[in-house]
Amino acid sequence: MKKSIIFLSVCVLLMMSAAARAGESQKISGENAFKEHCAACHPDGGNIVNPQKTLHKKDREANKVKTAADIIGKMRNPGPGMSQFDKKTVSDEEAGAIANYILKTFK
Ligand code: HEC
Repeated sequence: MKKSIIFLSVCVLLMMSAAARAGESQKISGENAFKEHCAACHPDGGNIVNPQKTLHKKDREANKVKTAADIIGKMRNPGPGMSQFDKKTVSDEEAGAIANYILKTFK
């Protein structure tokens, strides 16, 4: 009887620590990552290098950058004047958070 209680509490502890870890990965903030990696050239969603290619919906769509995948594609394989962000600099998870932040922020 005692043993099974110990076993059960170990199970509960393991589950709790797994849940805590899952919670952590969701804490990646698209906004913070954007400020860290992108805002230097794209302040407020603009573009100080090429003013025709801002992150606002109208420009993005005119340049065929419409979905989160398109935005991640730009980071991995940017056009002239933009720095490249490989998976070591910006993980897929972080890139996705940045893309969603751009889509919901710069309309
Ligand atoms: C060194 C300056 C610089 C940095 C840093 C930078 N960009 Fe850019 N970005 C540019 C330039 C220049 C272009 C236009 C490139 C082209 O002609 O395709 C651009 C274009 C884009 C576009 C396409 C916009 C459009 O209307 O076609 C997206 C999306 C974008 N950047 C996202 C990002 C993200 C996300 C980051 C951060 C992870 C980032 N950029 C960091 C300079 C920069």
